Amino acid sequence: MVCLERDIEQLTEEARRLIEEATDLAQLDAIRIQYLGRRGKLTVLLRSLGQQPPEVRPRLGRVANEAKQLLQRLLADKRQMLVKSAKVPTEAYDVTLPGISPLVGRRHPLSLVRRQMEEIFIGLGFEVVEGREVETDFYNFVALNIPKDHPARDMQSSFYLSEEILLRTQTSPVQVRVMRERAPQVPLRIVAPGRVYRRGDDDATHSPVFHQMELLAVDVGLSMAHMKGVLLDFARKMFGPDRKIRLRPSYFPFTEPSAEVDVSCFCDGEGCRLCDGTGWLEILGAGMVHPVVLRNGGYDPEYVSGFAAGLGIERVAMLKYGVDDIRHFYRNDLSFLACFEDMGGGWM
Ligand code: DAH
Repeated sequence: MVCLERDIEQLTEEARRLIEEATDLAQLDAIRIQYLGRRGKLTVLLRSLGQQPPEVRPRLGRVANEAKQLLQRLLADKRQMLVKSAKVPTEAYDVTLPGISPLVGRRHPLSLVRRQMEEIFIGLGFEVVEGREVETDFYNFVALNIPKDHPARDMQSSFYLSEEILLRTQTSPVQVRVMRERAPQVPLRIVAPGRVYRRGDDDATHSPVFHQMELLAVDVGLSMAHMKGVLLDFARKMFGPDRKIRLRPSYFPFTEPSAEVDVSCFCDGEGCRLCDGTGWLEILGAGMVHPVVLRNGGYDPEYVSGFAAGLGIERVAMLKYGVDDIRHFYRNDLSFLACFEDMGGGWM
């Protein structure tokens, strides 16, 4: 009996020392198993108490239970100390699980296309300038040869802020603003990208807010051949080296003659859904700057001439990437926006 009691004491002392010396949770757990586990030293000893004479059992039982409680307390205290001091993770981490990548912002497809267009025109000697989205009726219409009662105003239903102030319906007003700043300087070569606003348009190919890029060149001796050369170069750099363009006679009040410009479709004239079977895709309006507009800009049409063009940035992006609805650009659906990161993506 005495012998067993001493054994219990010895065991307890031994375990106490080990617990004190333990430096991490794994060691501590090993000690717990060694003494209090199912086949632990103290557990086995406790189990053997049943074989002791009945008169000593209660005493031995008490001593053994006290020893067990003491060890449990020592283990718990030590555990808390280790966790606190070493900031040891209390849970296991599975380092093989896939990580959660943060959402990284990307450039909007329209910004990417605008930049690409700018790069192409910069390469051709054009300078990027900015206009204003809130314009006067004068620059948006009158200076561009569209007086108050001109029927062409109907083509561009406007958001008026007051009698004379409106949200620009086109980037063309930048033409006269820049000419007035620079005249009589030649050559003048600018592109002006930006937002434009039109009331009432809202379907798969029209949006009340969209983007245009205005192009203007003024110089001595400029002809439609120069215009065609610039636009063909643009079309090839933007849509592929084998593209052709064609000019169809058209009408704009601020150009004479005027043309609508088509680029040959990606189906190479076979006829497909994109080109409605025609083999051609309309990409822009253009023409030789009207003498009235040159004069409004401070240039003398007797000595200089100019050409201009207006491109829809959404239109270019939709054709280049096969986007079938302009509203995709404004819905902010991340799975759509993510397609364009490297300019190589597409969306159908
Ligand atoms: N401003 C015209 C529009 O929004 C586009 C345009 C056509 C601009 C011909 C031009 C041009 O500079 O020459 O419909």
